[in-house]
Amino acid sequence: MPNEFDEAKLMAAARAAREHSYSPYSAFAVGAARLCEDGVVVTGCNVENAAYPLTICAEEAAVATAVAQGRRRYSAIAIAGPANASAPPCGGCRQILAEFAPSLTVLYSSGEETHEKASLEVLLPAQFELP
Ligand code: THU
Repeated sequence: MPNEFDEAKLMAAARAAREHSYSPYSAFAVGAARLCEDGVVVTGCNVENAAYPLTICAEEAAVATAVAQGRRRYSAIAIAGPANASAPPCGGCRQILAEFAPSLTVLYSSGEETHEKASLEVLLPAQFELP
């Protein structure tokens, strides 16, 4: 697992992105910060919709933005949820994250000052890929 990046800085970027969350239905604001191969940090936040299933997760938004910028390769992502919750990525986001970085390092908040760290290979074993 690559470890040569500033975890606190990446989590701070995720918490800053969380400020832009549009989450009037769940009140569960999420921000994500993706550390790209070139060192650029690309962020995203959850964007909810009155038609609930159309909601976009923060990680999904960060991945889509980075790919649209030509930044497919990345080594780490930080996810920041509300202060009183743990915010591991949902199952669908784990698969989205795996597309470009199967052994990604994932940081996720476990409070406003704390976070957990795990490899995506542990969070999503037996990753789906087409033959
Ligand atoms: N959410 C994320 O942004 N990422 C996840 O990995 C889990 C859930 C958002 C979706 C929804 O807006 C809110 O959190 C509550 O489910």
